[in-house]
Amino acid sequence: MASSLRVLLVAEHPESTSYLRRLLKSAQYGVVAEVGMGAEAVVAAREHRPDVIIVGLEEPTARGLRTIESLKLAAAEYPVIAVSSLGDREALRRTMVAGARDYLVRPISADDFRQAVTNVLETERRRSSAEERTVTGNPGEIITVFGAKGGVGRSTLAANLATALAQETHQRVVLIDLDTSLGDVALLMSVAPERTMADLVPHIDRLDSDLLRDFLTVHESGVRVLPAPMRPEEGEAIEGAHIAKVLDVMVKTYDYVVVDTPRTFSEGVLSALDQAHLVLLVASPDIACLKSTKLCLGMMRLWHYSQEKLKLVINYPSNSREVGGQEIEEALDYPIFWKVPYSSAVAAAARRGRPVVLNAPGNSYARNVARLAKVMAGTYRPARGLFARLLERV
Ligand SMILES: Nc1ncnc2c1ncn2[C@@H]1O[C@H](COP(=O)(O)OP(=O)(O)OP(=O)(O)O)[C@@H](O)[C@H]1O
Ligand SMILES: [Mg+2]
Repeated sequence: MASSLRVLLVAEHPESTSYLRRLLKSAQYGVVAEVGMGAEAVVAAREHRPDVIIVGLEEPTARGLRTIESLKLAAAEYPVIAVSSLGDREALRRTMVAGARDYLVRPISADDFRQAVTNVLETERRRSSAEERTVTGNPGEIITVFGAKGGVGRSTLAANLATALAQETHQRVVLIDLDTSLGDVALLMSVAPERTMADLVPHIDRLDSDLLRDFLTVHESGVRVLPAPMRPEEGEAIEGAHIAKVLDVMVKTYDYVVVDTPRTFSEGVLSALDQAHLVLLVASPDIACLKSTKLCLGMMRLWHYSQEKLKLVINYPSNSREVGGQEIEEALDYPIFWKVPYSSAVAAAARRGRPVVLNAPGNSYARNVARLAKVMAGTYRPARGLFARLLERV
């Protein structure tokens, strides 16, 4: 039975074009237009409003990848599926990072192709029905990941928590990097920061959900990312009031706003702490960090942050456990909400520019953060049985 699905075919090699033509014909999909790469593809997407865009990706892939990136920026509502004869992982990774929703390796049967298209459209439908939630509806939650010292694992936790929340809850998650001079969220997530917080500043007065969407980069997990400026001097124009406004619009548009913070206090950081529904104060278990954390906790008590809002997280960025959990609670006079284990997979994932929860989902760090996401979403059911409880232990 012929499908009413409207497909835009984008390819530039004659062989790739005729392969896709045959594939679409045998899958009984209607082609609304056949175009080449680059601006032509973006213009056609906007004109024809297809249900799905099929991009034939062959060596050299640079132009195809740039086209997928442009489609993501200028025509994000139309999902892209890449079909390629390149079966290596690196081609797949780069295509997904560029913004494709799926990557299919040739040869592919008509049935498998139809199934892949159906899956992508179903995911897209779920996403956009969440996107359509009215702006005046339930506001989302701001989770600010902070630390009294540098290098305690904030950015890693923020990136992984955002990804895990998107995966566990299928809700809309945005991750914002407030480290305007040294932000590394874009690197940890391998997103090409074409638009950053600095580009948003000139438009701040008329910022709303629609405009904000244009400045966000979509990560392969579905997390929307607002990266920090590429050059520290660009960050100088960003004021606390700008950050307050961005967070305000984000929380009206997304279910979870995860904020990564720099090691220093600034007006922007204060806004992110004040506006937060939950502050994760990350500390590593060494004496210097615990001293700073104690001062920070004291200050936040003066600000009347409740224990519901302010949660202490102990992260183990190194293998040595200098101070034990009970000692930490006694020294800080504050309960530990969560402990995140050391894992060598964290550095490996950072080198690949992928959150651990995607790069090594079975790993102890990934499982721990996935559980944290479930706790936050209220969907965590403690595992039963001794073996399960042992697995749960940090
Ligand atoms: N649980 C962990 N296991 C192993 N390594 C970790 C863990 N958490 C963080 N790391 C490593 O510790 C280093 C610091 O982590 P990260 O950059 O996330 O900290 P940060 O608090 O954001 O630092 P900065 O102050 O520079 O912004 C990184 O090399 C990271 O890979
Ligand atoms: Mg950081």
